[in-house]
Amino acid sequence: TIPVITLDGPSASGKGTVAARVAASLGFHYLDSGALYRLMALYAMRNQIALDHEARLAMAAVRLPATFAEGVVKLEGEDVSDAIRAEEVGIGASKVAVLPALRAALLQRQRDFRQAPGLVTDGRDMGSVVFPDATVKVFLTASAAERARRRHKQLIDKGEAANILQIQQDIEERDARDAARPVAPLKAEADAHMLDTTDLTVDQAVAQVLAWWRN
Ligand code: CDP
Repeated sequence: TIPVITLDGPSASGKGTVAARVAASLGFHYLDSGALYRLMALYAMRNQIALDHEARLAMAAVRLPATFAEGVVKLEGEDVSDAIRAEEVGIGASKVAVLPALRAALLQRQRDFRQAPGLVTDGRDMGSVVFPDATVKVFLTASAAERARRRHKQLIDKGEAANILQIQQDIEERDARDAARPVAPLKAEADAHMLDTTDLTVDQAVAQVLAWWRN
């Protein structure tokens, strides 16, 4: 079977950066599953679909006209790589992510990314629901304050106005929503390696995941 490395964890825990780097170093494919939820939120917002309209959103998820190629995310042919990173889109993503029918509709789409020579993927339920038979499962954490600091820096680097206390509050609310939902709640699997990145550099976190992979 084709190997899969899953990285799950809360907002701004470093999953995306670490996953992309691990994928590049192994020459594996990379799936940012959060981008799918962000795309769904952006699609809903642009088409005036309520973020809790489960039936309409699940239907849209199956045929969502989105593509991922060379790090560019497109929706209906338009490059939305930056648009999906907006803070309000992340908040919207965590709202549509509670809908079981929408999650089910995205399941096959995510599994289709499992292609030779291997896949590295990050999200909330990669090791629990989407790839329960993953070769290596990692659960990343970091303190809420450190995660707020990282997200704040990302936004400032993009030239966006950002308030760190507001960001920490948004992150904590989003974590609470992700952990409390009945379907695919955010939690560490029993067979996942725990990786606290609060005091680690990206290089150190990548090296640790690669070490687990080699063993
Ligand atoms: O980058 P950040 O961690 O802030 O967010 P993300 O990974 O892009 O995910 C955005 C939202 O999508 C999360 O808050 C989750 O509610 C949802 N999500 C999910 O439910 N399951 C996944 N596998 C990935 C994301």
